[in-house]
Amino acid sequence: MIKTVEFTQEGYVRLIDQRLLPTEEVFLECRDYIQLAEAIKNMTVRGAPAIGVSAAGGIALGARAVDTQDMGIFQKRFEEVCNVIASTRPTAVNLFWAVDRMKKAAKNPALKSVAEMKAALRREADAVLAEDLLINEKMGKNGAGFISEGDTILTHCNAGALATAGHFGTALGVIKAAHLEGKNIKVFADETRPFLQGARLTAWEMKKEGIDVTLITDNMAGYFMNKGFIQKVIVGADRIASNGDAANKIGTYSVAVLAKTHNIPFYVAAPISTIDFEIPNGDNIPIEERDTREVSHVGNRQLAPDGVKILNPAFDVTPNEYIEAIITEKGVAKKPFKESLEKLRNS
Ligand code: MRU
Repeated sequence: MIKTVEFTQEGYVRLIDQRLLPTEEVFLECRDYIQLAEAIKNMTVRGAPAIGVSAAGGIALGARAVDTQDMGIFQKRFEEVCNVIASTRPTAVNLFWAVDRMKKAAKNPALKSVAEMKAALRREADAVLAEDLLINEKMGKNGAGFISEGDTILTHCNAGALATAGHFGTALGVIKAAHLEGKNIKVFADETRPFLQGARLTAWEMKKEGIDVTLITDNMAGYFMNKGFIQKVIVGADRIASNGDAANKIGTYSVAVLAKTHNIPFYVAAPISTIDFEIPNGDNIPIEERDTREVSHVGNRQLAPDGVKILNPAFDVTPNEYIEAIITEKGVAKKPFKESLEKLRNS
């Protein structure tokens, strides 16, 4: 089982360093919340649910280090810890969901001392991690029915165990569940320029699971759809607006448009914590701009001329009309998504 995020007995956050995969399996132990915040920023840990779980662990870690018995001073320092963690990456709403959840846990009026608050935050972080593993398994089961014997499924980026606390994943969790049901299926993984999560992470993860995987470059997707190689597309999401518009790794929108043209159903698999019920549509989703070096270089090798203008939006938004269904741990939402997502939220 792939363990992406773990909390050690001392409360440290242990992460598989995703920057080094697939050639090196190295773990990084974050011993304070600043180190954990840096690990989210620099993509040691990435993927919306994994960011949320790590954030919860980082906040518990940061709270534990606050050296005071005064509840007021503790709350102030705790707020600072939350702000640092929340400022790491803007798009994945799971980060803010986790921060809010930890804040709520600290506000419980039953907590009568700083020690009690610290213990409650520890328990909450443990619960966030344990729930993530269960949620992904449920999501997998809820989505596996969409996959038929003999399907080849295209996926973009990495929405697997590495993008969650571990084990199953979201989009890849659906694929793994279908595989475990004994269906004979194949996966096509987009390499996912510029950070290559598909080539480095999805290909690695599928091979580890013994699932037949073929790596293609992003610009080959249309060719293979047109030739009849692909029957389904499944991706994850970083934030889904209340109307079903879904932000995911840059290039997902292009895949969705191609899928529609070729009459290939396009599914999004994501936990309820990825749905931002506060925003009406995808125009309200903040899109992270990342370092231009991710585009100008591959590793240490420079590809582009010095000084050339570069843009690097890390995500795009797929409008809801391109999405056949949104698979969650609570069930499957179909159009109109506003109503069906709301229903799942309250179920
Ligand atoms: O920039 P990343 O690697 O954090 O982006 C990750 C993605 O876009 C994933 O597809 C998304 O978080 C879904 S993860 C289950």
